[in-house]
Amino acid sequence: MNLKPFKKNGQWLLCDEQLTEDIETAWFDQTHWLNQGRLLGANSGRGSAWVIKSEWGKWVLRHYFRGGLYAKVSQDSYLWTGLNQCRAFAEFHLLNKLASLSLPAPRPVAARVIKKGLYYRNDLIMTHVPHEQTWAQSLADGTTESSTWADIGSTIARFHRNGVYHSDLNAHNILLNGEEVTLIDFDKCSIKSPNINWQKQNIERLRRSVEKITGQSCQDQLSQPWQQLLDAWSSERS
Ligand SMILES: Nc1ncnc2c1ncn2[C@@H]1O[C@H](COP(=O)(O)OP(=O)(O)O)[C@@H](O)[C@H]1O
Ligand SMILES: [Mg+2]
Repeated sequence: MNLKPFKKNGQWLLCDEQLTEDIETAWFDQTHWLNQGRLLGANSGRGSAWVIKSEWGKWVLRHYFRGGLYAKVSQDSYLWTGLNQCRAFAEFHLLNKLASLSLPAPRPVAARVIKKGLYYRNDLIMTHVPHEQTWAQSLADGTTESSTWADIGSTIARFHRNGVYHSDLNAHNILLNGEEVTLIDFDKCSIKSPNINWQKQNIERLRRSVEKITGQSCQDQLSQPWQQLLDAWSSERS
């Protein structure tokens, strides 16, 4: 894949080599797809993930919005510290690395950065992962099968074996399609040297998310399925 950023209409772009001839800066604005009848819907509480039916297949367009208190100051501007440090470019590079490791995650399609003074705004396009539901939906419905807990544990173990640290591992970022488990939302994630401490932090964050969604405890009502996840994770982690 050609990973050289280039400029078009004053904006920085990075894309799959096969798309270099076709890419338009308009691709990163959802109205462009809406006007062509190619916008299939929004997929996020914050309204930041759009599903698109492109000529090349189904894509997800994500605009980076700030969370937390700072969002009141600026919704989507980040301090510029260099092109490759921009969130969308960093996530693009990471997704590309995950693809080369054959890990179940979306494939990167294109990224854009608009620099303005000391700040920038940015967007990412990735492939859409076909899925029946997020794990969060399945947990809320109480329909997660016992084998799925183990499948999730093994999938996280595959990422951990390869040093992939997920900064926001929660049930909303785990997509289920039968036995297939895919992780998404790799903003601020990175490859580190495998270490039990940060790997456990990922699992702890996931446990809190499961408990929040179900209103049940992983040490009490959910102890059996949670243990299945942990067993699969620890036996395949290294
Ligand atoms: N590549 C993808 N394929 C399919 N669905 C996706 C993909 N990326 C995001 N989604 C859907 O959009 C939702 C929000 O996306 P996410 O990247 O987690 O953004 P955020 O958590 O910042 O809102 C996900 O929970 C999922 O339902
Ligand atoms: Mg998410």
